Amino acid sequence: MYRDTSQSMSLIKFLLLAVLTVFFLLNCRTLAQSTPPCLRLNACPTNTYCAEKPDGTISCIDCDVSCGLGCDGPGPKFCKSCKAGYYKPSTNFHVCTECHVGFYGVNCSKQCRCLNNELCNKTDGFCNSWKCDRGYTGLPYCQDKCPINTFGLDCGFVCHCPVNDNCSNVQGDCSSGKCDADWDGPGCQRRLPKLVLPPRLQSVTCNNITIYWDAFNKSVDIGLDPIKQYNVLYKQITTVSANGKTNWTNYISIDDLHDGRRTFIVSITSGLLQDVDFNFRVDVVGMENDKPLKSTTAGTVSAAIRNTCTVNKPTCS
Ligand SMILES: *[C@@H]1O[C@H](CO)[C@@H](O)[C@H](O)[C@H]1NC(C)=O
Ligand SMILES: *[C@@H]1O[C@H](CO)[C@@H](O)[C@H](O)[C@H]1NC(C)=O
Ligand SMILES: *[C@@H]1O[C@H](CO)[C@@H](O)[C@H](O)[C@H]1NC(C)=O
Ligand SMILES: *[C@@H]1O[C@H](CO)[C@@H](O)[C@H](O)[C@H]1NC(C)=O
Ligand SMILES: *[C@@H]1O[C@H](CO)[C@@H](O)[C@H](O)[C@H]1NC(C)=O
Ligand SMILES: *[C@@H]1O[C@H](CO)[C@@H](O)[C@H](O)[C@H]1NC(C)=O
Repeated sequence: MYRDTSQSMSLIKFLLLAVLTVFFLLNCRTLAQSTPPCLRLNACPTNTYCAEKPDGTISCIDCDVSCGLGCDGPGPKFCKSCKAGYYKPSTNFHVCTECHVGFYGVNCSKQCRCLNNELCNKTDGFCNSWKCDRGYTGLPYCQDKCPINTFGLDCGFVCHCPVNDNCSNVQGDCSSGKCDADWDGPGCQRRLPKLVLPPRLQSVTCNNITIYWDAFNKSVDIGLDPIKQYNVLYKQITTVSANGKTNWTNYISIDDLHDGRRTFIVSITSGLLQDVDFNFRVDVVGMENDKPLKSTTAGTVSAAIRNTCTVNKPTCS
């Protein structure tokens, strides 16, 4: 009986010891897990993360290249924040991703201005092409817009916008959608054709003023050929409109038939007041792809020509 009791006591002791051992082992593992050496203050330098080796020591492993202010683990998704040149896309929120071509800086929030943005440094916008995009200047980062009134590649083009209008640094377009009087076309770079000389008087009889002008000749006149037509206008010198400006009347349009004609002659025989002075001018309508240009520029104005009707009576002496 005693012996039996003694035996069962040692069995109980043994079981107790076993349970305690298991408990301690488990407990030790838990303790080891909750206080790893990596949690010690400044266990690893910045831009590294701490990893525990099987022998209980630690190793400090470099953060992913995309990480800015350190990381909690390997790869671009454990970055605390992204380095300049990387961002967190809204579709893939935690992963630092390289900027799209054409963007750089913190959060990729700045725009490259290099001629070839493939060669733009995504960290700081440096143009490795060593060439700025159209409309920009200031190598090597090219973040400055062209100086006022210039645009395009190397800021090498002059704007031709109306006064007080704004010129696009990239294309030369004006914010009003118009160009300065003598200009037209993309970026207002087409000089509209214009005769250098005004129309001249051929002859005048009452209510018949005949004027002439030389055909557009691109080696002496302004702007580009070919020419679609000439618009002949006249203006009564004393006529002043309500807004203070004298009005021009379009008298006739003459097509340039490109038949080698050197001189054009037109007789103005209606709309003329007797014994009144008139100015004349000829506006040239340019042509592109067989279509007349929408804009014309005002031609040079003739000297005053009088519609002489009353025969001067000889003065008595
Ligand atoms: C970058 O984005 C983060 C997160 O959206 C924001 O907190 C931070 O202010 C941004 N920084 C800049 C310079 O835009
Ligand atoms: C981009 O610029 C950064 C900072 O100036 C520099 O460290 C890096 O080497 C550059 N990258 C390239 C591809 O030139
Ligand atoms: C030109 O730009 C200035 C400043 O942005 C603006 O106030 C003005 O209205 C613009 N002018 C025209 C003609 O669009
Ligand atoms: C006007 O004068 C010109 C030149 O003298 C002449 O050729 C033309 O026939 C005249 N026109 C009219 C309608 O009288
Ligand atoms: C254009 O002007 C030039 C220079 O005055 C002249 O030599 C040429 O013959 C003119 N052309 C025509 C078609 O009149
Ligand atoms: C001049 O033109 C304006 C606008 O087109 C018009 O309102 C005015 O009546 C014209 N004046 C004369 C004297 O023809």
